[in-house]
Amino acid sequence: MSFAKGWHPVALSTSVEPGSSAGTQIDGGEYVVWRDNSGVAHVWQDRCPHRGMKLSFGFVRGDHIACLYHGWQYDTAGRCRYVPAHPDLEVPATITVPVFASAEACGMIWTCAEPEAVRPPTPADAGEVIPVRSLYVDNGADALLRAVRANLPSPVTGDEPSAIAPAGDNLWRITTGADTLLLGLQSIADNRAALHVVLAGPASVYAGAGQTHYLGWTADLRYALKHEQAPVGAAARAEAV
Ligand code: FES
Repeated sequence: MSFAKGWHPVALSTSVEPGSSAGTQIDGGEYVVWRDNSGVAHVWQDRCPHRGMKLSFGFVRGDHIACLYHGWQYDTAGRCRYVPAHPDLEVPATITVPVFASAEACGMIWTCAEPEAVRPPTPADAGEVIPVRSLYVDNGADALLRAVRANLPSPVTGDEPSAIAPAGDNLWRITTGADTLLLGLQSIADNRAALHVVLAGPASVYAGAGQTHYLGWTADLRYALKHEQAPVGAAARAEAV
């Protein structure tokens, strides 16, 4: 299984620690996001070629990920290198996991299914960013984006108008006052989507109060989706968080 053209965000960079793995979905397909101990992120099909166990249930050892079920180990190219039940076996090169291109930019992990020859450029990095959150909702990506457009945030200070503009594949930039938010939109399934939200700027400015302010905005978004674009505000947030 593969997914639509272009780059897709699958997680905030800070949510996948070195030596860990997590399952995710793009357009209904299941993928494992894992980070080796040197810090490089990988996105693969979430299925062990042996008996189909999810590799996201496995464990990372150095630059390998091992399947939970029978312990087959795969290197960073997706090739099986070790079968515990047959430790002396030279594992056939045909035993591989489908591997997708991965990149990190704007504080998010991205993946692309297109071959290198036709692959679009990786998302442009935005310098220092501060993670806000990944918001998961039981709505499709189009509905989530409509809710964002209808409920743009106000800045941490001031009341200048806000604007949203595309900034790349599945990436939007919101400018509001002196603040810039970057939003990575992940289509998980027809009725499920995620918004990976970061603040562009230094931690010395935005860590703490800035993150809290925009966390409240994501709670407003959830409320707006749940109540079909009803007006939102701080009073609604307790229900929405
Ligand atoms: S199912 Fe993965 S090693 Fe057997």
